[in-house]
Amino acid sequence: MEKITDYLCRYKNYNFALDVATAEYIDSLQSFEVRDSDVLLVTYPKSGTIWTQQITTSIFESEEDAPAYPNNLERMPWLEYPEGHDDYSLRPSPRLFASHLTPALIPPGLRHKRAKIIYVIRNPKDVAVSYYHFCAAWAKLETPKSFDDFLEQYLAGNVGAASWFDHIREWHSKRDQYNILFLSYEDMVLDLKTAVTKICRFLGKELSNGAIDQVVHKSTFKNMKKDSKANYEFLPPDLLNGKFMRKGKIGDWKNHFTVAQSERFDRIFQERIGDLALTFSWDAAKEPQEH
Ligand code: PPS
Repeated sequence: MEKITDYLCRYKNYNFALDVATAEYIDSLQSFEVRDSDVLLVTYPKSGTIWTQQITTSIFESEEDAPAYPNNLERMPWLEYPEGHDDYSLRPSPRLFASHLTPALIPPGLRHKRAKIIYVIRNPKDVAVSYYHFCAAWAKLETPKSFDDFLEQYLAGNVGAASWFDHIREWHSKRDQYNILFLSYEDMVLDLKTAVTKICRFLGKELSNGAIDQVVHKSTFKNMKKDSKANYEFLPPDLLNGKFMRKGKIGDWKNHFTVAQSERFDRIFQERIGDLALTFSWDAAKEPQEH
């Protein structure tokens, strides 16, 4: 791994926080044995990972005889971080994993439509704002000097996980190789029940209407904020000095971007991924459904 800042190192076009993974461990994922029943949640950071983790683990937990785990991180661990986990080959199926990795780094056994991948995408201006606040709270990342400074690093891909634009392009262009469900954070905000129903259908889980409502209830921003299994407040304060559950809104970028920053962002967005058939909600034009 090549150290690129005091906080980040680069490996195969992906940026890791220092000391969270080794090149050997990341390379070992190339021979990771994938099971057809595996589920992998993939996101660029700050796109709704812990939210979708809560939805997915709740769907599996709603089944009879589901094993109990102390929190969502243990039920759905991060594939790329070697520290402190059990031997995944001994885990009972179905195994659930989360990851921010790019297609080049994830286990190749996921190709040919084996196992299931849920990919959550969020509008990149809100990702930038969420990431900016997170960098200030997360000890392993550099606290930005200012939002403007952070935005430059984000646009240049000099942040954890590297460039948002590359992540989206790579996953979008390789989507036909995988059994993948694309979801948008904004659609989840606007209609959580429909998003939960889509995830259930994709996972082949036939939940009753009442059970779906329960998953929705557990996964609202308000309820997750109070849920110690889901909100990551179980992490030590010297690692997380702030909250994963910050605002949970569409369009907070308007409170951070200047007009000039926004126009520049739009130009770069057009240049970098304007050719992809992607549409984003940039503001909450309508009120979310109440649950
Ligand atoms: S991480 O560090 O990559 O795992 O972060 P991630 O979980 O992907 O993203 C954190 C943002 O998701 C918001 N969030 C939610 N929004 C709406 N509803 C629910 N239930 C929810 N749960 C998490 C969280 O608040 C972060 O966004 P911001 O904009 O910072 O609030």
